[in-house]
Amino acid sequence: SPSDPALVERARAAKEKLGDKVFVLGHHYQRDEVIQFADVTGDSFKLARDAAARPEAEYIVFCGVHFMAESADILTSADQKVVLPDLAAGCSMADMATAEQVAECWDVLTEAGISEQVVPVSYMNSSADIKAFTGKHGGTICTSSNAKRALDWAFEQGEKVLFLPDQHLGRNTAVRDMGMSLEDCVVYNPHKPNGGLTADELRAAKMILWRGHCSVHGRFSLDSVNDVRARIPGVNVLVHPECKHEVVAAADQVGSTEYIIKALEAAPAGSKWAIGTELNLVRRLANRFAPEGKEIVFLDRTVCFCSTMNRIDLPHLVWTLESLAEGNLVNHIQVDEETETFAKLALERMLALP
Ligand code: 13P
Ligand code: SF4
Repeated sequence: SPSDPALVERARAAKEKLGDKVFVLGHHYQRDEVIQFADVTGDSFKLARDAAARPEAEYIVFCGVHFMAESADILTSADQKVVLPDLAAGCSMADMATAEQVAECWDVLTEAGISEQVVPVSYMNSSADIKAFTGKHGGTICTSSNAKRALDWAFEQGEKVLFLPDQHLGRNTAVRDMGMSLEDCVVYNPHKPNGGLTADELRAAKMILWRGHCSVHGRFSLDSVNDVRARIPGVNVLVHPECKHEVVAAADQVGSTEYIIKALEAAPAGSKWAIGTELNLVRRLANRFAPEGKEIVFLDRTVCFCSTMNRIDLPHLVWTLESLAEGNLVNHIQVDEETETFAKLALERMLALP
């Protein structure tokens, strides 16, 4: 969308006034009007590392969602302030696992006599509380770009994995990359007594998947894949691992947002691509690569924006940068000390993965 020139100028001026004091991170799903002001863009793994690599910046403005800003706060030093331009930018998937529900789940696993064999692996898309639970119980965080390495590590530590909160990333990684079968996976439903599972089912499972999902990626179906293959002969279907297993199984390639970008950069002229991920990114890539003769379409016929990512818009960014430039610290994201200690343990295990 074309951005208002007056707002663009205000954002530019405020950012210039802040100089090296501010560092702006932009997730790939952000709007173009926001991305133009990002000092770096990336997937959630790259942004977590980039945030930690900027000790000189007093303010880290995180154009992304709440769990990303929390992770940045955990990984940056105590005197750095992480700011989220709109506090309502959450993630519906992260909200699907609360600390109470996960503590209850651990009790269920303990009752079944298996908690000692279970290593928690939590997707970056989770609250700091869930990351702290993970750290406390000897587990690690993963993102969509290192989920296989995280599972390899976890299965060296124990016999079973509790994967939180995205069942699809957990299942897709286990089956596609680790050679497990669908029968090795069970789904723990936090809204049912004992997760809806018997103790025997829990004992037989290798992967205990939390019943969470991404509503944006959940919109893609097997029909979307069949449809686009019929419409565009020779199309390469490339999807994010948050898509359902049947979609991933029918795709040609699977990867994180950063992977998707690299694959398209390396693609030959004349190639055709259908991309199954959030629409801001797909549109940006379609525009970027059209001059090189690469045809890039959205995998579905409907429009799938992540509504919470989209809450960060140019007016919110301008307000944030101008407030900081005037010395007003707004929308400061601060994880409490105890949560931070354990969540950091889990995040550092991820950063240390081979
Ligand atoms: P990645 O950026 O790690 O691919 O994750 C996508 C996502 O859903 C972030 O919310
Ligand atoms: Fe959460 Fe899905 Fe949006 Fe990512 S795209 S922030 S997982 S709702």
